[in-house]
Parts: sequence; structure tokens; C-alpha cells
Amino acid sequence: MQPLAHCEECRRVFPMTGTEWWRTAVIYQIYPRSFADANGDGMGDLAGVTSRLPALKSLGIDAIWLSPFYTSPQHDAGYDVADYCDVDPRFGTLTDFDILQRTAHDLGIRVIVDLVPNHSSSDHPWFQAALASPAGSDDRAHYIFRDGTGENGELPPNNWDSVFGGKAWTRIQNADGTPGQWYLHLFDTTQPDFDWDNPWVREQFRDVLRFWLDRGADGFRVDVAHGMIKETGLPDYTPVEGGSMGGATVPDLGSIPGAAPTAPYWAQDGVHEIYRDWRLILDEYPGDRILAAEAWVDPLSHVAEWVRPDEMHQAFNFAYLETPWSGPTLRRVIDDSLAAFGAVGAPSTWVLSNHDVVRHASRLALNHENLQGHGIGPNTPDLPDAVIGLQRARAASALMLALPGSSYLYQGEELGLPEVVHLPDSAREDPTWFRTNGERYGRDGCRVPLPWEAASPSYGFGPSAASWLPQPEEWAGLARDAQAGVAGSTLELYTLALRLRREHALGLGSVEWLHGHADEIVAFTNGAVTVVANTGAASVPLPAGELLLASGPLPGNTLPGDTTVWLRA
Ligand code: GLC
Repeated sequence: MQPLAHCEECRRVFPMTGTEWWRTAVIYQIYPRSFADANGDGMGDLAGVTSRLPALKSLGIDAIWLSPFYTSPQHDAGYDVADYCDVDPRFGTLTDFDILQRTAHDLGIRVIVDLVPNHSSSDHPWFQAALASPAGSDDRAHYIFRDGTGENGELPPNNWDSVFGGKAWTRIQNADGTPGQWYLHLFDTTQPDFDWDNPWVREQFRDVLRFWLDRGADGFRVDVAHGMIKETGLPDYTPVEGGSMGGATVPDLGSIPGAAPTAPYWAQDGVHEIYRDWRLILDEYPGDRILAAEAWVDPLSHVAEWVRPDEMHQAFNFAYLETPWSGPTLRRVIDDSLAAFGAVGAPSTWVLSNHDVVRHASRLALNHENLQGHGIGPNTPDLPDAVIGLQRARAASALMLALPGSSYLYQGEELGLPEVVHLPDSAREDPTWFRTNGERYGRDGCRVPLPWEAASPSYGFGPSAASWLPQPEEWAGLARDAQAGVAGSTLELYTLALRLRREHALGLGSVEWLHGHADEIVAFTNGAVTVVANTGAASVPLPAGELLLASGPLPGNTLPGDTTVWLRA
């Protein structure tokens, strides 16, 4: 390997335009069902979260994002909300939320809640009122009801498919038992889409925002933030890749026969007006509250529209999550991200795992593409190698945490948890699994309850042995108490990375590429720190400099494949 040198020509510097906390924050996603269970019923809860916050403080994160804990029949694990302003009894009470938030704030951890505005649960009183009211009524107009097509309305209003498989329309029965209108649900039948063209819907959600802001929430992760507005007339649409929220909005799809240029339900321009309105509400509150968009949109320059100065603060960088572990593609996506978000004055975000995708300790060792939400299971061909997966995951996380901007972590990645492949079919709960008759495994494999203590029942997830999804035996060795203070453990790697990231202000820094190395090497400086990731298989000589962090062993002064180091020049 050549000595590392700065290349002024290729220098990429997008100076940060502010110092608000969210520009550099490491935000840790808590999936309440699976984080910690205080009452021993096998389902995580808010009191469980509160009890484990000190562990997150020691990890060194800045904020938590809580996936939904609202009143819900749990047909989509809480992303089917029946009351936006209350806590489901499975998870506790509003008082438990207040205690959680106060405890987090006392520890210096901010709290972001999940907002699910594209659809409600079919149990929501607003939808129940719509069902009980006649076609054309005001109550029906809160959702997207249409007459069917065909001679007697027996066919759905258009050809749209649900993200979870099957049709995106369900026909209702009238009070007298005759078949009635159809309603739209981009997800499960139990998740009817709101009609966001209706001012009444907009008014209700302003109140929901204020409810949580008044309670002290530091912001919202906005679910399906690219889906709320549908093209007028609801035209037919045939996606190239069905059943995924990713990759469906590439603008040049028009060249593919049968595919419309942009899905008429994703990334419609009208969504931006909603976020401008919400931004004004957030700005009324002190303390830098934020909106973070879950918008599966391509390319990154398009995603950046969600974070223009008068809209949201952050958008998830799913292009980064979907980038394979390879030097050229990583360099490209890092450049594209910094350029796209930098161009609108927003920080780039980075993310490798969440509750909808195969955990990166498994995904990075897959030899085939895995669409968002499809999952892997016992019959998936060519299952990932666990050792390679973990090694790559550690290297990838060490690379990500050195990048300027804000990073999202998904609970359990700091333990190196892999996707759970061998779940019994009878335990699966993801609607994707049911709606595709088991053709897609869905997302249960990344949602298995966390191991905290190797020697306790349910590995310390709760006080009993109960766990809503079974935990694999190998997880005893990955439990937090088996890794805490153990040199070389994944937990210690994350803890060190977060400490160094803060000490060297990497979140506020910039990326300057270093050249003179093989294509598989991703090398840059961020301030005083040099970061070198070897995405290839062959070892290369270890660059000079004081070693700050290594994602794996460095035998004989070499940098092996699938390993990242941080050095001080
Ligand atoms: C988002 C959530 C996912 C959920 C879907 C429908 O993508 O992250 O878990 O199933 O929206 O609400």
C-alpha cells in the first residue's frame, strides 16, 4: 500500500451549517416489543426501557427513537395505531412514558417518538365511524373509499398491490349485509390509508404533534413519509419490483414497459406541504425538536427534498443501508450523500439496520439482493456465514460511525446480533409472512427480544422465561453482560467508537478521501482521524499512525479483509 496522501482535487468538504444536536447525534432505535420486559409477560414495555436506560448512557448514544407504543391491536407490531395519544396497556401507561422520558432527559438522552400518519388501525374510532357511515359521508372522506369496478363493483378500484403482498384494497360490507365500497391500504387490510387531501385529517395530526411536543418529546420519526399523498385519480401502476418500499421511485422507470415513471402513491410532491406545516408547529417549541423522514426514495438528491430548510431535519439514508460491502460503491454513496444533503444544508444521516431489514451482521454476508421487508428464513438459498457476517458488520459499523453527520443504531447491533433465521413458522407475526403465504419470511428475524444477561431466563429480557419470539441458544454468548468490559467484544467496539467520535467531533467533521490504495480500500480523514476500511479479502499493510480503534485483530501489522481501523496521523 502506498503511503496515504491527501488529494486536494478530490477533497469533499461540506462544512456543517449549524451545531444543533441532531446534526451529529447518534440515535438509538428502541423497538419496545423486544428491548426489555419489566412485567415478565414476554412482551417488552416502557418500564423495561426505563430500567435499561443506564446501559444506553454507558454506550454513549445521544437520543433514542421509540418505535410505536400506542394503543394498537398489533396487527403490524404497533404500526397500526388505534389511539395516537395513549399508550397500549401491553407497553404501560402515559405515566410510564413520562417516567421514561424524565429518566432519559436526566441522563442527557433525548426522546424521539414514532408518528404513523399514512394510515391508522382499522380499530381506530375514526375508521369505525367511516364504516358505520354511508358512502359519500364526511366520515368516509377521512380515508380513501372508492366504488369498485366491474359490472357490480366486484373488482378493486385500481390494480395497486400492498407492500406486504396481495391487493391494496379491501371491500366492506354495508350495514344490511350487501357488499359495499372498497378502501385503500398500502400495507395490511387492518391499516386503512388516510386521505391527506382532506383538511380534517391535517387538523387531527396537528393536534397529535402538539400532544407529544407538549409532553416534552424531542421529535418524531415519521413513518412512510413518502406515502401520504396519492396521485389524483389513483391511476393504475405496475411496479418493477413488487412488495417493497425500496427502489420503487426511480424516475427513469418510464422506460420499462408497464411501469409508470413514479409510483402514484410514493413521493408525490404534495407531501412537502404537510411537512412545511408541521415544521412551523415544531418551531413554536423550544429545544430543537426534530422531524426525521422514513422516505424510501431514489436517488439521494430526491430524498434531500424532505430536508430542505423549511421541512424536516433529517431523512434516513436508505441508499447507504442498501449499499453492498464494496469499496467503490461505498465511496460513491458517501460522496452522493454528503453532496445531496449538503446541498440543502442538512446533515447526512447513516444507518445499517432497523426493524424492517435483515440485520447487517447477516445481510452483509448475503450473496444475493434482499429487498427491504422480505427477510430470510430456513429455505433461503445460500444462507449467510455468521463469522464473515459479524466481521463485516463490525467493520461497516466502525466505518459508519466515523462519518460526519448523524448515525442511527438499531437495538442489538451493538451486541453483533445476527438475523434469526430459524424461527418456527408458528411464532411468526409479520403480516408479510401471512399475506404472501410464507413466500416472504418478513421481518420477525430482526425483531427477536434482546439478550441482556447470559445466565438469566430469557437472557435477562424480562424476569420470566417468556419472550414473544424465541431467542436462539447462541445468544447467551452475545448477551450484554457477557460482552461488557471484555476486550474485543462488539459492545466494547461500539462504546469506544462512540467515545472517540465525540472526543474528535467526527460528527461535525468532513470526509477527505485518501488515494494510492487498491479499489477495495475505503480511506479518508475526518479531522485528525484517518479511517481505513478494507472491504476486500486480502490483507494489506497497516497504514502508519497511532491506532485508535480496530474492528478486528490486526495480525503482524496488517489490515486484514473486512476490517476497519481508525488512526491518528
Ligand atoms: C414503516 C415501518 C414498518 C411498517 C410500515 C407500515 O415502514 O417502519 O415497520 O410496517 O411502515 O406502517
